[in-house]
Amino acid sequence: MIETQSLTADDAGFARAAELLSGGGLVAFPTETVYGLGADARNDHAVARIYEAKGRPSFNPLIVHLADLDAVRDLVDWSPEAETLAKAFWPGPLTMVLPLKAGAGVSRLVSAGLPTLAVRMPANPVARRMLTEFGGPVAAPSANPSGRISPTRAAHVRDGLSGRIEAVLDGGRCGVGVESTILGLTGRPTLLRPGGLPLEDIAEVLKRPISERKDSEAISAPGQLASHYAPHARVRLNATDWHAGEATLGFGPMACDLNLSPTGDLVDAAANLFEYLHRLDASGAERIAVAPVPHLGLGVAINDRLGRAAAPRD
Ligand code: TXA
Ligand code: MG
Repeated sequence: MIETQSLTADDAGFARAAELLSGGGLVAFPTETVYGLGADARNDHAVARIYEAKGRPSFNPLIVHLADLDAVRDLVDWSPEAETLAKAFWPGPLTMVLPLKAGAGVSRLVSAGLPTLAVRMPANPVARRMLTEFGGPVAAPSANPSGRISPTRAAHVRDGLSGRIEAVLDGGRCGVGVESTILGLTGRPTLLRPGGLPLEDIAEVLKRPISERKDSEAISAPGQLASHYAPHARVRLNATDWHAGEATLGFGPMACDLNLSPTGDLVDAAANLFEYLHRLDASGAERIAVAPVPHLGLGVAINDRLGRAAAPRD
């Protein structure tokens, strides 16, 4: 258990929030939609702790929050349509999914290994000031334990996450109360999640209809698509010994090519998971063998992703 500080939206509160984020801490903060659970998007360990604090059973990709447009353009491949939408609706409850720029410096865990990144510029003045003082990208899902409803007051956040996060920045009640609308812009504009910004408004500004995903392929889909997670190499799970020619991914004290956590720490393991799978895959080995990871806490999400990486494919 850690002591969860209550921060007020004043000079001292913003300074403390920025300091905690810089140190890898988790800070819940208000946006115009719902409270977000923020971490430095460049810090693997801090991002892994988001999943731990929420008790998420899988690594859904997260939205990155930024205060200014130049900073957004540094992270994703910008497009004329994105520019039009940003002019019309940012800051505000619109999230855009765009191709992730090489060398953006965002933890792979943020996009759960996907080649795209969800970005948003929130309108809430408390969120904006916190982002400005921190001066970096903040990854944030809604600040509720997994499976519970999204929080629209600081008290809701404390009810769900007290003792698991460093601080809650109190900005009163969230006005919109439902999450941002998520629009995929990697192909033709596609609604990935309905939310605080009506679809009609987007269609009007883009002067074209927006495709809608069916519920069955709804927003969790990118996180569920096995192919997105599959390395080129075959993956052998729960390996208790290594075979010749394999690239080996360990957990706990053992000899191996890369070790998710030599000390057996699941937060470290989650922080390293996507990065290490990519590195072992890049080694050109035909098979990656992975040591057993305990199926508890963050281990459930880790095993979910490993299972997808190992799933049979075409
Ligand atoms: O209003 C909001 O959007 C709030 C506040 C805190 O900003 N955040 C929020 O985050 O609702 P979360 O984690 O509860 O939902 C993020 C959604 C997930 O369903 C995820 O699948 C989708 O965004 N998402 C994130 N990155 C994506 C990507 N690269 N491609 C497709 N979907 C993505
Ligand atoms: Mg949520």
